[in-house]
Amino acid sequence: MSVEATTPAAVIVLAAGAGTRMKSAKPKILHEIGGRSMVGHAIAAAKGLDPERLVAVVRFERDIVVKHLLDIEPGIVIADQDEIPGTGRAVQVGLDQLPADLEGTIVVTYGDVPLLTTELIGELVTAHESEGNAVTVLTAELSDPTGYGRIVRATDGTVEGIVEHKDASEDQRAIHEVNSGIYAFDAEVLRDALSSVTTDNAQGEMYLTDVLGIARTGGGRVAAVVTSDRWQVEGANDRVQLSALGKEMNRRILEGWMRSGVTIIDPDTTWIDASVALSPDVTIKPGTQLHGSTAIGTGAVVGPDTTLVDTHVGQNAEVKRSDVTSSDIGAGASVGPFAYLRPKTQLGEAGKIGAFYETKNVTVGRGSKLSHLGYAGDAEIGEYTNIGCGNITANYDGVNKHRTTIGSHVRTSSNTVFIAPVTIGDGAYTAAGAIVRKDVPAGALALSVAPQANKEGWTAAKRPGSPAAQAAASALGHASPTPSAD
Ligand code: UD1
Ligand code: CA
Repeated sequence: MSVEATTPAAVIVLAAGAGTRMKSAKPKILHEIGGRSMVGHAIAAAKGLDPERLVAVVRFERDIVVKHLLDIEPGIVIADQDEIPGTGRAVQVGLDQLPADLEGTIVVTYGDVPLLTTELIGELVTAHESEGNAVTVLTAELSDPTGYGRIVRATDGTVEGIVEHKDASEDQRAIHEVNSGIYAFDAEVLRDALSSVTTDNAQGEMYLTDVLGIARTGGGRVAAVVTSDRWQVEGANDRVQLSALGKEMNRRILEGWMRSGVTIIDPDTTWIDASVALSPDVTIKPGTQLHGSTAIGTGAVVGPDTTLVDTHVGQNAEVKRSDVTSSDIGAGASVGPFAYLRPKTQLGEAGKIGAFYETKNVTVGRGSKLSHLGYAGDAEIGEYTNIGCGNITANYDGVNKHRTTIGSHVRTSSNTVFIAPVTIGDGAYTAAGAIVRKDVPAGALALSVAPQANKEGWTAAKRPGSPAAQAAASALGHASPTPSAD
């Protein structure tokens, strides 16, 4: 039987540690996996519980961390840890930011344990409240428990206390059940117990773990919830662990999408951020990365070898071997192979941006095609227009950017260059190689290249005896090259 957990009175996320083993100028908890900082994942998991208050304890690189925290969660309460070290002190300064008479359940989590889910914290809170515990700790059985605090069980199965590795006896070190550092506390018990925690231990720190023994001595029930999913309690201390956690998070994200109806051909080479949204019957081909706020509609096919950042892909669209950022690809549209869509590219329904095209800040109307080899920037293109091979919008005069406006049902020939600002009317044509400097009225043909003149016999006259001259002679049926041109 499951008991619904109440929403916790508060969640305190510990984020004051330095994370020296990352060897980074950036605070450890700001390193990202799954497209989000580690502390961002911790905050998201905590927020899923809908707590009345959310507190983060900071110290190392305080200003940078606080700015990040407020960016992702403007309502978060910041608690500054002082020079007294240890997880116990961290929680104590967190409590100082909460009402002194706060009642109910207080959850403590870490900012560097990114795979922990709302569901698992919820199970912890449910067990804590339904069993009437003073403290409930989340634990795991590890084959190598080195470094972790060990869970010392009483004969009745409840928890007697936690012993840190550095303070543990030989016998205690043989215990494989470890402290994850994630807990549910009764608020009053936590406040009282912390007031008697000292720094009298091997590390000279205020240990939060001491609260468990103190609470038990005070007559409270202290118990554990054991998880078999060790990934959810694993922290990243260095970049090797960071990448292992990132890979596992990705595996979980992909599995979630596959179970909800997305085809992922090769999960080993596909990376999808936690923030991406996919619809059923999307197909993701190998070598694809989907980042940020990317969202993909039903029936769309993305990949192989495609990177999408903050991009919307409409239903049944296709994007192959391309790099796309902050763009919108319409339903049934087609992009690539080898297209580079920079921010604010809006491709209309059933439109096409084909091979070796670069675009930026361009709106392409329904059914319009930019099929091969070109650049379109700062431009607006109407509907059902066909842009020929090798067209370029010359949008930059060296100082300012200018716009190109092309109407609907326009046909431009190969190698047209639009010298912006310039406007092409509906139904207009351009000739091959046209350099369009002046506006083209609707229905007109723009020609800017001089009429062609053929100087017959030029090769024989100017390059006598060359292979070209000989080839021309035999094509013309001449026995030998006959110079004739001037
Ligand atoms: C802690 C636990 C240990 C547990 C392990 C799980 C204590 C005394 N020990 O050990 O039982 O097995 O976590 O990973 O609690 N932090 C602060 N302020 C501090 C110290 C730490 O905010 O003064 C934060 C850190 O940023 C980190 C978390 O608390 O997010 C844990 O700190 P860490 O130093 O890694 O704890 P351990 O000694 O590994
Ligand atoms: Ca740790």
